[in-house]
Amino acid sequence: MEELKKKGIRLTLDAEKLIEEKKIPDEELLQLEKKFITIEDVSLILKKKEEAASEELSYQAQKVSEIKESEPSPIESSISDEPSPSMQEEKPTHAVSGLPSFHPLAKEYSAKIEIREKLDVTGNSRTKGEVEDFVAYFRNRFERLSAMLRAYPGKYTEADLSSMKSLLQQKVRVIVFVSEIRTTKNGNLMLEVEDLTGNFKVILSQKDERVFENAKKIVRDDTIAIEGKVLEAFIIAEDFEWPDIPLAREPKESPHDLAAVYLSDLHFGSRHFLDEYFNRFVEWINGKSANPELAGRVKYIFVAGDLVDGIGIYPEQEKDLVVSDIFKQYSMFSDFVDQLPDYIEVIVSPGNHDAVRRAEPMPALPDEVFRGDVIKVGSPSVVSIDGFEHLFYHGTSADSWISTLSNLNYNHPEKVMEECLKRRHLSPMFGGNAIVPEKLDYMVIERVPDIVHFGHVHKNGYSNYRGTLIINSGTFQDTTDFQQKQGHVPTPAKVPLYEFKGKRLRTLDFTR
Ligand SMILES: [Fe+2]
Ligand SMILES: [Fe+2]
Repeated sequence: MEELKKKGIRLTLDAEKLIEEKKIPDEELLQLEKKFITIEDVSLILKKKEEAASEELSYQAQKVSEIKESEPSPIESSISDEPSPSMQEEKPTHAVSGLPSFHPLAKEYSAKIEIREKLDVTGNSRTKGEVEDFVAYFRNRFERLSAMLRAYPGKYTEADLSSMKSLLQQKVRVIVFVSEIRTTKNGNLMLEVEDLTGNFKVILSQKDERVFENAKKIVRDDTIAIEGKVLEAFIIAEDFEWPDIPLAREPKESPHDLAAVYLSDLHFGSRHFLDEYFNRFVEWINGKSANPELAGRVKYIFVAGDLVDGIGIYPEQEKDLVVSDIFKQYSMFSDFVDQLPDYIEVIVSPGNHDAVRRAEPMPALPDEVFRGDVIKVGSPSVVSIDGFEHLFYHGTSADSWISTLSNLNYNHPEKVMEECLKRRHLSPMFGGNAIVPEKLDYMVIERVPDIVHFGHVHKNGYSNYRGTLIINSGTFQDTTDFQQKQGHVPTPAKVPLYEFKGKRLRTLDFTR
């Protein structure tokens, strides 16, 4: 490798190891014409050599197959806001001597993955961040959320805010954007609202306890429908609603008994990364356990962001790092992917610790930081998996949600996602969470998901909201001092697994 070093070409540790092991000459590596050589590049050279020798590569046949259309229906027909009773924690059977042979069912089926590319900012970012981009961004959001509200007509006729003066004493329905929220000296709520025609004020009186309690959850920049009586200076609201997801949907069926594993917040490179527990998971997924049947049904692994710990993410982070080179951190993630059975499809979306722009929506991780045999999507992104519509989002907005609404906290991240689904928006409060004003607001929840997968708060949390399964997948990182100060209570090494046919969510505990 002398020649490479002379030319200033860098190598990942695992690439260097493999080059030495396989005795690949410098000339072959120089032909790559790359400044940074990863294990994938080396593997590619080896693969080509094998092909030349006419050896068949079995995994080629198992490449991603994208299905054309999936049935638009949910996971459960039952309308329940309670977590499914089958979400109990389980201790996976660990490696023992005299292991049974491993015949994974998931190897028998090809993957069915369809990425909804129009709902993913990856490759679609067009903004310059100028004033007109912000105008277009808010307009796009308002128009799409208004259309959702309009799909279910209210009691009264809809009116524009510009026509309020001509509708005095009448009862109307208005669809508005909330620009400000205040408490009046009488203790009522006063909203400053606007639509595309003008602005007005709305009073929500504390005399109606049910509506008032609900109204305390209205946040700045919410889009809502309000019904009430028009007075000279304001509307006295009788009721209001968020766009929300529908209550009733057809049940979704899966013909194959396959399963998916939901991961997030691995934080490779962190001093607090829990190797021992993670290695147990890797052994388990490879069928090295007394009862490998369940592991053998895992066809998909999703990672909803924070694959690595990154660098310079928070003050004095270097104290928490064992690997402070971002490329090496991603190479640790690639090593993990390499250890997975070939028949498993891995889908990754980025988080705030990853090497993409910090503001949302975040595009997929670029090939320059790592390649690996994975499918990369943005955050948020929408992907149909075996006909089940998945919404992947890192969950960065959870911080601003939790600091804004008193009913939310870090111990129940699933409640945060319920608020998002209710609003059909992942991060409505502008300024609470950094947002890039794209012409299409990618944070709008356009399609009703069957499963929402998110992370970021490092705490497992699940719920079934109007038939949509919410999964927060915890972490494989132990508590850092920073998290302790922030009030985080992580639940590391607890891995959610969902069985599509049986519609069962389990949590596998790798700490035991
Ligand atoms: Fe994280
Ligand atoms: Fe995060």
